[in-house]
Amino acid sequence: MSRFQNKKALVLGGTSGIGLAVSRKLADAGAEVIAVSRRGAIEGDAAGIQVDSCDVLDRKGLAELFDRHGPLDYLVCAATGGARARGPFLDMDLDAFQGSFAKLWGYTNAVHAGVPHLKADGAVVLVSGSPARRCRPGMLAISTVGNAVEGFARALAPEIAPKRINVVSPGIIDTPMFPVSGKEREETLSNMTGSHLIPRAGQPEEVAEGILFVLGNEFVTGTTVDVDGGALLS
Ligand SMILES: NC(=O)c1ccc[n+]([C@@H]2O[C@H](COP(=O)([O-])OP(=O)(O)OC[C@H]3O[C@@H](n4cnc5c(N)ncnc54)[C@H](OP(=O)(O)O)[C@@H]3O)[C@@H](O)[C@H]2O)c1
Repeated sequence: MSRFQNKKALVLGGTSGIGLAVSRKLADAGAEVIAVSRRGAIEGDAAGIQVDSCDVLDRKGLAELFDRHGPLDYLVCAATGGARARGPFLDMDLDAFQGSFAKLWGYTNAVHAGVPHLKADGAVVLVSGSPARRCRPGMLAISTVGNAVEGFARALAPEIAPKRINVVSPGIIDTPMFPVSGKEREETLSNMTGSHLIPRAGQPEEVAEGILFVLGNEFVTGTTVDVDGGALLS
């Protein structure tokens, strides 16, 4: 029997990209899954997945969401949250820099509201990104936010034990987060990954496998797992 059979998971950002791949894999493995996003709609196969809507920046909405769906075994935070500033720091609009932290506030809102609704052996996963520990030119804001996400999880793990929290850090992944299509999409993803040890964009399912690993392995907490095609070493 799958270790996810009869488990209940809430996936924030679970209607697209990495979160949707997690929702599908958990549902296929026998878990009850609620995928949540602002629009609350899934394009394509949504077999076995319930959908709800909430903005992770809306704390009251989150409290109501967890009241509706708790108690939970798993909480996955994979919502993008908002726009990130790009470019060199000294040229950066500081309001845009601060705005980049919407992703962190979304995660911390969700963890604050959601962890009390987790069962005693429950687990949380946050999604950071390879720029956290391999900052390339123009990525300072994204890198800083990613570092904050990873540091938050390490600092929180002792406070919530025996509940667990881990981070999965993707490299460049082929998801709707990149809004271009056709040849332009191919070129964008290939330019961003050409120097990686595995020179291609990852698939959301490959990241989802990392997320299911840290959800299901009861000996893993307070750490970050990289699923990035070797981006950190290139
Ligand atoms: N793709 C990559 O290359 C990559 C690399 C490193 C890290 N990541 C991280 O991985 C996570 C998932 O990214 P993805 O590529 O899967 O993105 P995606 O395909 O664009 O999916 C983002 C999901 O988040 C939801 N969302 C966005 N803002 C929200 C909000 N304020 N409240 C609730 N839901 C919200 C979206 O639905 P609605 O629009 O309906 O709300 C959607 O379901 C993000 O944290 C991203 O930073 C991605």
